[in-house]
Amino acid sequence: MKKLVVIGDGGHSKVVRDIVLAGNEYEWIGTLDDKYASFIEKDERFSGPIHTVDRILERFGSQVYFVIAIGSNRIRKAVAEQLGIYDVKYAVLVHPSAIIGSNVNLLPGTVVMPGAIVNSSASIHTHCIINTNAVVEHDCILYSYVHLSPGAILAGNVTVLEGASIGIGAKMIPSVSAGEWSTVGAGAVVIRDIPPCCTAIGVPASPMKHIKSL
Ligand SMILES: CC(C)(COP(=O)(O)OP(=O)(O)OC[C@H]1O[C@@H](n2cnc3c(N)ncnc32)[C@H](O)[C@@H]1OP(=O)(O)O)[C@@H](O)C(=O)NCCC(=O)NCCS
Repeated sequence: MKKLVVIGDGGHSKVVRDIVLAGNEYEWIGTLDDKYASFIEKDERFSGPIHTVDRILERFGSQVYFVIAIGSNRIRKAVAEQLGIYDVKYAVLVHPSAIIGSNVNLLPGTVVMPGAIVNSSASIHTHCIINTNAVVEHDCILYSYVHLSPGAILAGNVTVLEGASIGIGAKMIPSVSAGEWSTVGAGAVVIRDIPPCCTAIGVPASPMKHIKSL
């Protein structure tokens, strides 16, 4: 099995570790998070602050892969930029109960959670989260650092731009888009394009007066 280091040690990271344990491609060997003051190795697993990534690369070289298991899209991006690791060193993690259609493109760092469905010819860029029971229909494009929350549904040909968060149970009808770093509130139904950095709620979804990222 390939060795995997999980970056981030919060709630989202627990679910990501479960995906690793459920599969047979990666062996979880350690966790990095700045809540750890120093590098500690115990029972063949280690923990340490994020900057100790250099030490891990030195020790395990080409055998080691990483995943940034941080739910906030902005923090996930900031950590990826801080680490500066080549994309090829990031794992794609797919829970065994997820369904991935034909000709789907899943790029490094993306995590697909239990029960999610990604249908034919969808393209999901780096460091996205396809959360529990979310559905990505055919030909959708999700750019980097998107979070599709549990139970969210994207119809065919939807585009979600970088950093956008689609809330729990939200839906987007065919061919609409969510702009960069936009937020679609829980339960919203998107029937028109959502502008960048906008927070939209309701059925049909419309912009809120103030902006707040997930
Ligand atoms: C849309 C959202 C980001 C707004 O958060 P916020 O800016 O903190 O908003 P507030 O809680 O201050 O609510 C502001 C108003 O919007 C309403 N509102 C908030 N979220 C709403 C939603 N999803 N649908 C409808 N109305 C909503 C509130 O009732 C409130 O109305 P009021 O002013 O009449 O009382 C948030 O409510 C939301 O839906 N987040 C999604 C969370 C999620 O799916 N997380 C995934 C984790 S895995």
